[in-house]
Amino acid sequence: MNPYDTLLAEAAGRPFAAIVGWPVEHSRSPALQGFWLKQHHVDGHYGRLPVKPERAALEELVAFLRKTPNARGCNLTLPHKVEILPLLDRIDPVARRIGAVNTIVKQADGTLEGRNTDGFGFLEALKYNAPHWMPDTGPVVVLGAGGAARAIVSSLMDVGVPELRLVNRTRGTAIDLGVALTPPGGQRIVVGSWDERSELLDGATLLVNTTSLGMKDQPGLDIDLAKLPHEAVVYDIVYVPLETYLLAAARSRGNRCVDGLGMLLHQGRPGFEAWFGPRVDVSAAQRHAVAADLGA
Ligand code: ATR
Repeated sequence: MNPYDTLLAEAAGRPFAAIVGWPVEHSRSPALQGFWLKQHHVDGHYGRLPVKPERAALEELVAFLRKTPNARGCNLTLPHKVEILPLLDRIDPVARRIGAVNTIVKQADGTLEGRNTDGFGFLEALKYNAPHWMPDTGPVVVLGAGGAARAIVSSLMDVGVPELRLVNRTRGTAIDLGVALTPPGGQRIVVGSWDERSELLDGATLLVNTTSLGMKDQPGLDIDLAKLPHEAVVYDIVYVPLETYLLAAARSRGNRCVDGLGMLLHQGRPGFEAWFGPRVDVSAAQRHAVAADLGA
């Protein structure tokens, strides 16, 4: 059976959404969205849809979402988050600025809107896990300049961080990101070199790792935390494993730590609410369920 027919059979006429990617088997989105469907007794379905990284395959996806009455939208993961943009009817301003879409919502008139909820998820998890952190009290250091960094830097600018020190192995990518996301006004994105990463922690209120360093099967992040104030929050968006070397090192010197699971869970909220209706929040029970699904 082709994957569209499988999804339609699973949904059995109920409203549905899905995670779309290539590959898509590893995605945790069905576990986290499925938790909310059950918790809120929604008679709906959230499935998986493998879609090849080809323009024609994305066009087929968009046509399917438009023409299927009970399709409510989808999430997008690698490698589709950027290539989908020109195929949608509307891109919301946040997603436009980030240049990537992770959530498609079908509107009442059948048109498709692209959103990006990664920055929302990042900030919500920060709010829950480090409620004392205030955006406007000092500089923030962000490591990495890939897709996740774009959403995170954008959200940190939105909440008024005065100075963001952006450090990436490939400096040119960080410069491009800084140029694209520096808002008008006094907020600054300062691009440092990768070799300076430990020095740049001086006076920071928040350190965020958005690189893949520390992920399962990847090398660890090599950084000296000596200059980082003990009151600073350390946030690693990696979620396999939940406790990276960075977080373990930060925790042992007394820094407040935030792992990547909260961001993963919170980024799913706006999609669920738009597709299925109920307002949702992240609970300890859901965290446990998804962590168990991750084998974390
Ligand atoms: P994502 O969408 O999760 O952000 P990505 O776009 O592939 O993933 O970005 C990965 C980030 O990890 C990049 O900032 C990358 O740095 P480069 O721009 O120099 O590639 C960073 N990264 C990956 N491996 C790294 C390594 N060994 N050392 C330092 N940075 C690394």
